[in-house]
Amino acid sequence: MSRPVVRVTRRLPGEVEAALAAEFRVELNASDTPLTGPELHRALRESDAVLCTVTDRLAADVIGAPPVRCRLLANFGVGYNHIDLAAARAAGIAVSTTPGVLTDATADLTMGLILAVARRMGEGERLLRRGGWSGWTPTQLLGRDVSGARLGIIGFGRIGQAVARRAGAGFGMEVRFWTPRADAHAALAVGAEAAESVDALLPWADFVSLHCPATPETHHLIDARRLGLMRREAFLINTARGDVVDEVALVKALQERTIAGAALDVYQGEPRVPAELRGLENAVLLPHLGSATREARTAMGLRALENLWAFFAGGDLPDRVA
Ligand code: DGY
Repeated sequence: MSRPVVRVTRRLPGEVEAALAAEFRVELNASDTPLTGPELHRALRESDAVLCTVTDRLAADVIGAPPVRCRLLANFGVGYNHIDLAAARAAGIAVSTTPGVLTDATADLTMGLILAVARRMGEGERLLRRGGWSGWTPTQLLGRDVSGARLGIIGFGRIGQAVARRAGAGFGMEVRFWTPRADAHAALAVGAEAAESVDALLPWADFVSLHCPATPETHHLIDARRLGLMRREAFLINTARGDVVDEVALVKALQERTIAGAALDVYQGEPRVPAELRGLENAVLLPHLGSATREARTAMGLRALENLWAFFAGGDLPDRVA
């Protein structure tokens, strides 16, 4: 049997590309720029599988009507809001993701963002780099303590729980969370307490960290009204998806200082980041680095490979979402 053709939409760590090439007839995207809609459409018609990433917008118009040759979209990443699952199913395409292997990297980065925004690290670095630091003073760039503060987590899957563990055990933070699923077992394991609702969690927390997927239900979950429920001294952290926050309302809250600050790794129209946000000193802004460690990105690639391998071997698709 000839080896399946796998279109890989972005360059991946070398070890992953080598492992893929050993198993499949791989077509790489040498330019490493996001494929356009028509390019993705063609890839779905010319390949047996597509190994895609968050930068591939696989909407219904791109997937199009059957027949398609592609039988599997093996996503490199755990979030899959860029893929229209109903359209994929209708076209007879299965979809898999890479859960678990990026949990620690993303939770670590979340703690980094909490520290960065609370301790004004970005402001300090900008001050120093522009030659504006004239020496230590007792009142310069005072932030707030992270140790012992209250952390509200929205979305309590693997990453939310990993953040709770770090915050509780490492920083003595008091942790509450909200999730639409009953997760009492996980809560006990990480010493966190369930909040009754998002609205109950927001006024309580010093830090609000988002870890829910982007779905129609979570679109603009944090809007102007909910930002208004947060305390003036509180910070918003988003390593989930930009779509969960109404960015216009967030800019207004940061400009008017109705909240103290925000630390963001994801944006509504990535890679576009509004100029108003970029101009704010009380915002820490990263370019979607949640899973960006060599270890995590290699493990994600190898996990996508396992899904491809299992699928074409005719077995179960381990990380199937459609
Ligand atoms: C994920 O896995 O969802 C990361 O955000 C990269 O897509």
